[in-house]
Amino acid sequence: MIHFELESDRELLSSAMAFAQNQVRNLVAKHPDYTPIYTKAGKWKHEGPKWTDWCDGFLPGMMWIFRRYEGSRGRDSRLWLENAIKYTEPLAKMAEDPDQHDLGFILFPTYYRWYRLTGDRRLNDILIQGGKRLGTHFQERGQYLRSFVGENSLFINFMMNVGLVLYAARETGDKNLREIALRHALTTRRCLVRGDGSVAHEGLFDTNTGEFQRQTTHQGYRGDSCWARGLGWGMYGFALAYEYSRDPHFLETAGACADYYISKSPADGVPPWDFRAPSESRKQQDTSAAAVAASSFLRLCRIVPDPVKGHFYWTTAIRILRSLCEKHLGVDDGWEGVLKGGVYHYHKGLGVNESCMWGDYYFVEALEQALRNL
Ligand code: GLY
Repeated sequence: MIHFELESDRELLSSAMAFAQNQVRNLVAKHPDYTPIYTKAGKWKHEGPKWTDWCDGFLPGMMWIFRRYEGSRGRDSRLWLENAIKYTEPLAKMAEDPDQHDLGFILFPTYYRWYRLTGDRRLNDILIQGGKRLGTHFQERGQYLRSFVGENSLFINFMMNVGLVLYAARETGDKNLREIALRHALTTRRCLVRGDGSVAHEGLFDTNTGEFQRQTTHQGYRGDSCWARGLGWGMYGFALAYEYSRDPHFLETAGACADYYISKSPADGVPPWDFRAPSESRKQQDTSAAAVAASSFLRLCRIVPDPVKGHFYWTTAIRILRSLCEKHLGVDDGWEGVLKGGVYHYHKGLGVNESCMWGDYYFVEALEQALRNL
């Protein structure tokens, strides 16, 4: 009789964590002070547009996670701490940039983790400043925080930033700021999340009247399709909004997005880049969306009141992580990223079937969360 020895979840996930540390260690040694977005043929350093500038927090974010994972006595604990600080400090100025709409993506992985480790109030001040700055994006007509595209544009991605606005409101007791964040989340729920739990990437508004006009997209297949990573941002972002507000509508919305993800993904839990792309292009999976989803499921399993549902989310997260570890690690010779098979911008041909910094970050975040409970 043949015995197939399955590696235990703990073994599999911890060797992926060691692999991720190795890839990041090599990146920092090879290209010091460089924060890439996506690879080209597996290499981080290359020419090519960024499209938007939203990724500088993910590399140091992984270093903060490695520091936490190793504890203060781990072999490379000092290396991770020193580099995390070195790569995080230059990001403070972004909290003052009026054009930067992705401060949640940038400051949660970095200043928030640093603040949690040290309790230094100056670090918290940067988070507060970032949250207040985001609040200035609010469009009274339309009731949303505008995206970098223009005053008429609402992004599903912004749900990853709205947590920072809620955080700043809580830390300062600013009721107006809290109200802005809640209204944004409610508008996103109303205009971008559909009845089946799928999401649109972008909503456009009439800036004169504030009326919602239509759903559209940049990175998804079409305005009426469901861009897989956008769904991940929705799941994660609404869960975060619930954690900071305790408004049950947001948990319900995160749950609807989660159910859509589960019911439409293949058995290994790694989705196509867009759930409604035509069948040929749907063969292209997006591992970065899977990483975001795994981390979202782990977040959801902590906050849902129903333990059966919580367990379901936990097993879903582990299933996705197992698939990523078994089939998608960048173990090929010379590949520099952690996860292969991510997609940045399909239509522009940027980072398609490549490693993406956020994919690596949310993968590592999910590994660390899962390993704490295995
Ligand atoms: N710009 C956000 C994303 O690519 O998911």
